[in-house]
Amino acid sequence: MTRSSYRLTAVGSGKGGTGKTFVALTLAHFFAAAGETVLLLDADFGLANASVQLGLGHAGDLPGLIAGRTPFAKAIVHVGAGKDGFDLIAAPAGSGALANAGETIADKLLAVLCNARNYDRIVIDLPAGVGAGTMTLAAHADDALVVTTPDPTAITDAYAFVKLMARRTGGRMPGIVVNMATGEAEAKRTAGAVIRSADAFLKNKPDYLGFVPQDGAVGEAIRRQKTLTTYAPDSPAATALGALAETLGGESRKRQSATSLR
Ligand SMILES: Nc1ncnc2c1ncn2[C@@H]1O[C@H](COP(=O)(O)OP(=O)(O)OP(=O)(O)O)[C@@H](O)[C@H]1O
Ligand SMILES: [Mg+2]
Repeated sequence: MTRSSYRLTAVGSGKGGTGKTFVALTLAHFFAAAGETVLLLDADFGLANASVQLGLGHAGDLPGLIAGRTPFAKAIVHVGAGKDGFDLIAAPAGSGALANAGETIADKLLAVLCNARNYDRIVIDLPAGVGAGTMTLAAHADDALVVTTPDPTAITDAYAFVKLMARRTGGRMPGIVVNMATGEAEAKRTAGAVIRSADAFLKNKPDYLGFVPQDGAVGEAIRRQKTLTTYAPDSPAATALGALAETLGGESRKRQSATSLR
């Protein structure tokens, strides 16, 4: 499948409620603020949340786009007026549309994204779980992230995500982001648990990309349906995600210059 030259960043977790939607949309803001043209795709087909976290009345028309009823330009909504604005596409919140989406929908979505011109970056907010469609999208990403919390069940599910992605891709693994950690020590212990299991059973180690602290401003921002970057731009969680966006942005710049030198 050939595709436009955007960089695809997919945010998954295995376990639900680890903060995927929050991480994906805050990263989308930071990528946009750094000058990238960004599309945030809410691939939580059954229970789309990104537009709710953003307080938007209209989430775009992902089902229409996939079915070929709605052209790309009409299927997206623009979020934010400023320099850190980005496009969003999702199923209508609360609709349950595409609830039973599986691998076929993921393949159709990837095909549709081939025509997504004019974006430097597409960020996909993946559904919870390790379903076939979810893993297809993760396997096609340039940067796949697995978001875990220090909760042992989240760690186990993050390992399952790592294992299934490695199986799909001949060994490629997602980068680990630890969310809701009390501090760096807990985050490193959490990431270390996933890395040790991968090393022992899969003979390969995923990278630890960083952590986002437990921060009351996150819940406050979501309850007010504001992005963290507007509600509390200097909060510890916003600062951590800014640093993560910079790490991922730096990766893409490195690869671009490597390609142009060839
Ligand atoms: N760093 C953080 N500090 C404090 N609370 C957080 C943090 N990250 C996420 N949360 C809280 O966790 C809740 C779940 O976040 P979010 O909806 O982004 O998770 P999710 O992984 O997308 O969930 P789902 O699996 O249902 O799609 C949010 O309502 C938010 O209040
Ligand atoms: Mg979500």
